[in-house]
Amino acid sequence: MNIRTAVFPVAGWGTRFLPATKAVPKELLPIVDRPAIQYAIEEAIAAGIERVILVTSEHKRSIEDHFDIASDLEAVLEARGDIEHLRAVRAVADMVHLVTVRQKEQLGLGHAVLMARDAVGHEPFAVVLPDDLIIGESPALGELIAAYKATSSSVVAVMEVPKDQTRRYGIVDPDTSLPSPDGGRTIPLRGLVEKPAPADAPSNLAIVGRYVLSPKIFEKLEQTPHGAGGEIQLTDAIQALASELPIVGYKFSGTRYDVGAPEGWLKANLDLALEHPTYGAALRAALATHLRDGER
Ligand code: G1P
Repeated sequence: MNIRTAVFPVAGWGTRFLPATKAVPKELLPIVDRPAIQYAIEEAIAAGIERVILVTSEHKRSIEDHFDIASDLEAVLEARGDIEHLRAVRAVADMVHLVTVRQKEQLGLGHAVLMARDAVGHEPFAVVLPDDLIIGESPALGELIAAYKATSSSVVAVMEVPKDQTRRYGIVDPDTSLPSPDGGRTIPLRGLVEKPAPADAPSNLAIVGRYVLSPKIFEKLEQTPHGAGGEIQLTDAIQALASELPIVGYKFSGTRYDVGAPEGWLKANLDLALEHPTYGAALRAALATHLRDGER
């Protein structure tokens, strides 16, 4: 079955990035020349997604505005003959069909996904966390969808992390009694644990914010009690699903940046700007000068 719908939970406060996110949603902070969420939407579209469901909250309307037609701005650009910017602005409005649902209380990622239940309907769907920016040759979500089709299993993206960082992530429990197809990238799972202490972590494979899920997850989410951090966790609902349906982890091929906090955001901006066709050369020169001066 084709995956045509992706849920983007964007209702959070962005506390890790305060004060930058006091009045601006973290999803709209730019990575070089585009807001962070636009990369995730572009990835989803490249993966064949046709319908994006944003799970939003108050103070997040500007995310919808970014993907809407900006009539006044377009009129100004047209009057000025600024065709390049006019095209860029219109391309974002034409990019995607957005549906929004509200998460009235921030009770956790699992609760946010549950809010999208009616909008998703009875079909498998993707979840994309735009804090996890993934840059690579092929769209990470496309790789997960291919794994979903090949295995008929729900899929979570995974990457290796140092064992002392398990508290920051959901951690998967690989089923080593089963083969790992696709050169070891597809990993059958026994279960998943949200943010375990290193001593309790079943592996060093962390969940990254891309999922392809059976709609049965909604039944599980309804029954999921408050978990790690007092929140209703998506990881706990997938763990419950694992007792009924197969779940696999997928080691995606790209590089992941946590752009929901300054360190990862800075690294993403640096890496992408250095490679950028317009800004790369000037930035490399500036960096070379900076490093040379620093050595003196
Ligand atoms: C969420 C998930 C966690 C996952 C992480 C990836 O946590 O609950 O399992 O590892 O995203 O970014 P959060 O970062 O929202 O606390």
